[in-house]
Amino acid sequence: MLIFHTAKELRKNLSAKISSLGLVPTMGALHLGHVSLVERAVKENNKVVVSIYVNPTQFNSIEDLNSYPVNLENDLKLLKPFKKQLILYIPKHNDIYPEGIQSKKYDFGSLSQYMEGALRPGHFDGVATIVEALFRNIMPNKAYFGEKDFQQLQIIKSLSRSLNLGIEIVGCPLLRGEDGLALSSRNDLMPEDLRAEASVIFQTLNYITEQASDWSIKEMELYFKSKVEDKNGFKMEYFCVANPSDLIPVSHLDSRNEHRIFVAVFAGKTRLIDTVKLFRK
Ligand code: PAF
Repeated sequence: MLIFHTAKELRKNLSAKISSLGLVPTMGALHLGHVSLVERAVKENNKVVVSIYVNPTQFNSIEDLNSYPVNLENDLKLLKPFKKQLILYIPKHNDIYPEGIQSKKYDFGSLSQYMEGALRPGHFDGVATIVEALFRNIMPNKAYFGEKDFQQLQIIKSLSRSLNLGIEIVGCPLLRGEDGLALSSRNDLMPEDLRAEASVIFQTLNYITEQASDWSIKEMELYFKSKVEDKNGFKMEYFCVANPSDLIPVSHLDSRNEHRIFVAVFAGKTRLIDTVKLFRK
């Protein structure tokens, strides 16, 4: 598999014959969710760049950045089946941040005001900064992101519209493990006892979506909190129901519109997020 550490080298090696270039940005510690993005990207493009870069500006603390999992050997193993079509881009800091490691400032309106935007100040500026740098360095035709980070996906769609570089953003479904836990690079950071109980998040969300016609949003939140916090070491950070398009939280469900539940939960020190669709029948 071709591996480049600078965008200059990478671009030099891109053949002019490529009619569609895909990009799958990642922070490494790949899992089957990432593999599903790569699978889709290789189907829809003749070459695909997978970037692996743990972006410091999107972390809220040094402790979180330093504990982010890194496993290049396993990443390469998971990507091997696609090697003919893939190019790996593993930049050093100065290829992304030539003027020093710092976020740019963006205004995404309501998209960045709630949930992750409210609880992780500066996080989305960091995400947008790296994604803009990758877009400008690689200039793909299409870029692929998972719906687990639904708020991030909406922000990147908005970023791409305002950059006007002609890059299509493709949102791909969230994947879950057999027990329902949303796949995330952070899952392996949980000690075994917490990992074994983490399925409570999806099981409870699932149950709540079945009660949507009878319960108020407040009742849903109280139920979620009590079920999750009933497990030792688990703490709800937020439970929010919002419109998927503007991500503004709602306090009542409206049967004409689709909504989404967004949650963040601490399992010990590991922060997990999840999202499901919510319909009032
Ligand atoms: O979702 C992620 O893994 C990261 O936020 C991204 C989009 C690769 C930017 O660092």
